[in-house]
Amino acid sequence: MNRVCELFGIKYPIIMGGMSWAGTSKLAAAVSEAGGLGIIGAGPMRKDDLQREIDNLRRLTDKPFGVNIILVSPYSDELIEVVIKNKVPVVTFGAGNPTKYIKDLKENGIKVVPVVASDNLARMVERSGADAVIAEGMESGGHIGEVTTFVLVNAVAKKVKIPVIAAGGIADGKGMAAAFALGAEGIQMGTRFIASKEADTHENFKGLILRSGIRDTVITGANLGHSARVIKTRFAKIVKELEVKSPEEAENVLVGSLRKAVLDGNLEEGSFMAGQSSGLIDNIKSVHEIIEEIVKEFFETIDRLKEVGF
Ligand SMILES: Cc1cc2nc3c(=O)[nH]c(=O)nc-3n(C[C@H](O)[C@H](O)[C@H](O)COP(=O)(O)O)c2cc1C
Repeated sequence: MNRVCELFGIKYPIIMGGMSWAGTSKLAAAVSEAGGLGIIGAGPMRKDDLQREIDNLRRLTDKPFGVNIILVSPYSDELIEVVIKNKVPVVTFGAGNPTKYIKDLKENGIKVVPVVASDNLARMVERSGADAVIAEGMESGGHIGEVTTFVLVNAVAKKVKIPVIAAGGIADGKGMAAAFALGAEGIQMGTRFIASKEADTHENFKGLILRSGIRDTVITGANLGHSARVIKTRFAKIVKELEVKSPEEAENVLVGSLRKAVLDGNLEEGSFMAGQSSGLIDNIKSVHEIIEEIVKEFFETIDRLKEVGF
């Protein structure tokens, strides 16, 4: 038990990253059943979609879980109503400053955990009442900030007293131990959980993760003001060229491109958002196996560090 386990009422301080389209109730339930915290990625959902996903998750598990809301969603307000009505135990927030929602959620007994890409935002959300923060480095899949996990987690852990959960580039127990060495008390993973048996993400997507090396992701959207790490496909190259030559056209081709990757495995028009940790992943396992192996390797790593020989 540590503060993250106590906060969420879970066995292991391992959180599933909120993932638009890929973060289904089925995958979230598997993570919660395996002792972590499963998160439904509300992404572009409307309130009825989210209600269906919460109902489905509750059919699959009675363990704690969370919902991730992206603050750029035009439906944030109605999604907040749904999480309050359903007494969802935890809400994580991506892409922005969730301060305006924190008081309302906390008054309804919901734990609030924003994703931050800067130490200053971490301090700000702590002051507004956040229960923990997810410090997400630029190694991550999906939308990203500019600072690496190695520097960000260290800086955030110095700046706040609430528990810090490290995200970005973590796919095994060694990565988890490194995050803890920097001051984290929990980890969040996205890419590793896509490469699992329970993820309904298209086989083409899983195949790309398995085949990718550590240099096979690229940042698209930097020129448009919304940087995202994706696997280096021909489409990603086209987007990068377009965003310089014709930003409007780049925005157009990006609409719906994550859905096309996750649901259809569309190699020509899909944005395969995944982290640099793709280069560390070479197998598809059950969520239970993934989590148990990470915990085992975490403790082995800590033991090994006691014998470094100085
Ligand atoms: C396909 C995909 C979609 C994502 N969508 C979201 C999202 O909707 N909201 C969010 O806060 N983070 C999102 N993320 C980021 C993850 O929650 C997580 O922080 C990140 O994947 C961690 O880095 P890793 O991929 O190296 O494990 C997404 C990541 C991926 C790979």
